[in-house]
Amino acid sequence: MTNPIPCPPSLPFLGHVTHIEKEVPLRSFMLLAHQYGEIYQMHQFSRHLLVISSYELVNECSDDKRFYKGIGGALGEVRNGVGDGLFTARAEEENWGIAHRLLMPAFGTAAIRGMFDDMMDIASQLIMKWERFGPTAAINPAEDFTRLTFDTIALCAMSHRLNSFYREGNHPFVQAMVDFLVESGRRAHRPSLVTSVMGYQTKYEQDIKILADLADEIIAERRDNPIDKNDLLNKMLLGKDPKTGKGLSEENIRNNLLTFLIAGHETTSSTLSFATYYILKNPEAARKLREEVDDVLGDQPIQLGDLNKLPYLTACIREALRLGPAAPMRSVSAVDATTIGGGKYAVEKDQTIVISVAMAMRDPKVWGEDADEFRPERMLDGKFEALPPNAWQPFGHGMRACIGRALAWQEMIIILALIFQRFDLVMDDPSYELKLKQTLTIKPKDFHIRALPRKGRSIPL
Ligand code: HEM
Repeated sequence: MTNPIPCPPSLPFLGHVTHIEKEVPLRSFMLLAHQYGEIYQMHQFSRHLLVISSYELVNECSDDKRFYKGIGGALGEVRNGVGDGLFTARAEEENWGIAHRLLMPAFGTAAIRGMFDDMMDIASQLIMKWERFGPTAAINPAEDFTRLTFDTIALCAMSHRLNSFYREGNHPFVQAMVDFLVESGRRAHRPSLVTSVMGYQTKYEQDIKILADLADEIIAERRDNPIDKNDLLNKMLLGKDPKTGKGLSEENIRNNLLTFLIAGHETTSSTLSFATYYILKNPEAARKLREEVDDVLGDQPIQLGDLNKLPYLTACIREALRLGPAAPMRSVSAVDATTIGGGKYAVEKDQTIVISVAMAMRDPKVWGEDADEFRPERMLDGKFEALPPNAWQPFGHGMRACIGRALAWQEMIIILALIFQRFDLVMDDPSYELKLKQTLTIKPKDFHIRALPRKGRSIPL
């Protein structure tokens, strides 16, 4: 006998749509979890969702044999722009397997280490900008981290310079992408009739065109000026899947190029912003971090060999990803009819389950009563390795886990080490408390810092 799954009161036809706030949907999902517990159900028009948030249930549903990645809701809408790119490909689509096998080596350790110089090139642009701004300027770190991560992915993966640090405001791609992602998210919670009547479609299509145009420009530039470099773009244009011998179609190359530009920068920029916020909010962590960076780097330029000598910085990023996971929720669907929670809850075949990673990574049963506190020490000295399976999963799970994890990691270590080597960061408003902004990812909102150059430090880049 299974237990009934709690269901908040709902409206006819609309279901629970009005329960989800527009600005930060995550907040509504978390609030409902506090009210209804580790599992509850929701209806959004014709979609029926189960939402889970305890470690135990999340661990059980992190199983590729029983659950496959679901591409509904907001992710289903994102397909309007990036089709069958790796992130939004459906489980049954052959193109996912071809692209995954073909591209995995390009994201491997050796390939990522080979990106060090390109990463340093872009990181130096951020450092120079902050040095020139001086100690009194209020800096929005999320904006500069977005410039950094966007330019880094374009240079490392496609040898293409976007020069975001040399323009006022956002690159048009970034603005179009943010608007496209926000609108994709909203469509998932709104009847399609409203979308067409209210005129959202035209702007949506324009944004998709801006995204596609940049992808086409990068591909055309490479076809016109081929280079002998083993980067991601060449892999996509020239590579063959070792299993089927097939290459990627033109359309799939564009979809994946866009996927890397989108998935490759928004998430990393979010994580850097959360890490900066949590480190500054915890002066003891900032002190330890600076001490570590000084011990390892001193006043010398950072080298590739330094990157794995910074355990406290690694712990800070892990802890920031636990408290502020850029992708706070993911969805899976059941391969067969089953039960979860030790037989307590019935799940139908193909039932969509929304996994609240953000909540599971604060489950006191795993993380203790201080789960809401930023404490990098819980990720140090073998404690990270000893965590229960799937307790820390900001990069997703199994075969659909993040392909860009090592790339993002190296990029984040480089920039944070450089920043703490050269600046004392302070919050522009010391009383600032974390507010969230949500597109497909979450980020700190209205967060500003000042970067005070450290005295007596003049370190060549
Ligand atoms: C998948 C997080 C950086 C490309 C994912 C997933 C998560 C994630 C949670 C799984 C989503 C799901 O199951 O629905 C992150 C975080 C990052 C990061 C937190 C940075 C801190 C990157 C970078 C790239 C990238 C730098 C590309 C260069 C992808 C792709 C997938 C993915 C292509 C889909 C993989 C597949 O399904 O085969 N990421 N990501 N990500 N990520 Fe990342």
